[in-house]
Amino acid sequence: QLMKVYVTRRIPQEGMKILTEAGVCKVSVWDSDEPVPRAELLKGVAGAHGLLCLLSDRIDTEVLDAAGPNLKVISTLSVGFDHLAINEIKKRGVRVGYTPDVLTDATAELTVALLLATARRLPEGIDEVKSGGWSSWKPLWLCGYGLSGSTVGVIGLGRIGLAIARRLKPFGVKRLLYSGRSAKPQASEVEGEYVPLDTLLTESDFIVVSCSLTPETQGLCNKEFFSKMKNTAVFINSSRGSVVNQEDLYEALSSGQIAAAGLDVTTPEPLPTDHPLLTLKNCVILPHIGSATYSTRGIMAELSANNLLAGLGGAAMPSELAL
Ligand code: GLV
Ligand code: GLV
Repeated sequence: QLMKVYVTRRIPQEGMKILTEAGVCKVSVWDSDEPVPRAELLKGVAGAHGLLCLLSDRIDTEVLDAAGPNLKVISTLSVGFDHLAINEIKKRGVRVGYTPDVLTDATAELTVALLLATARRLPEGIDEVKSGGWSSWKPLWLCGYGLSGSTVGVIGLGRIGLAIARRLKPFGVKRLLYSGRSAKPQASEVEGEYVPLDTLLTESDFIVVSCSLTPETQGLCNKEFFSKMKNTAVFINSSRGSVVNQEDLYEALSSGQIAAAGLDVTTPEPLPTDHPLLTLKNCVILPHIGSATYSTRGIMAELSANNLLAGLGGAAMPSELAL
């Protein structure tokens, strides 16, 4: 009797190959690049032993109920797990696999690219070239902010935060501050100074948010937060959109309270094309592509498939979330 697995999206073939060739499960896939409609998801998971999902799928009580008592394992193709109703999942004895580590480098690279693009105004410059706005080399035109000699503040020095810090240091960063729940011994590698959030906000030229979304970090970057930042400071978020109060960010950017913002994550995703933040030249927004390299997405698919199979077999997962 084959176990039943439901996959909520078309994923890189490396992952599908592992699942189908294992010979222990019957795999159904929502075979599209677009999200599965909720009603289809509820139908698709019925009776499933394993669920392979994405960060864009909200896995809550309704989905768990629709799956029913067979469900043994949820494997998410992401490092973040704020889309999973962890307490409900734990209560039902369902195990969870995720994809830490394998996307750390790709996400850190993207964050550095976003920081440089925002600070040096690359999207604006590209627009000017295309629109004919480039009339001459001008001493005062399209000036931004540089990393050399700067102070960088990282909020959440986890795996990704540390990888970002490691990449930024060689740009000549003078001080590397970080805040979070606790001081991290591994911060010594980047000469990171553990400081209270207020100190980080008032002293940093660049602020990079790299914490996970939790009740404590939800809406952390609000009016009060931005009001403590320098007028010349650049704000970068590649964690989760809900860490930021977007109305407050709009206000801070349009009033000149802060210099610029670069976001790889928003609320909601996708961000509606008429959203006020998109009218601001000093706001650079990317469509949540932190882990989007061919190789990283392939490895994420493999890891999530292997997590799922291990969970189905009652074995130790390569990357299991401690619930
Ligand atoms: C990306 O945001 C992830 O959680 O993998
Ligand atoms: C967690 O999100 C990490 O930093 O890998």
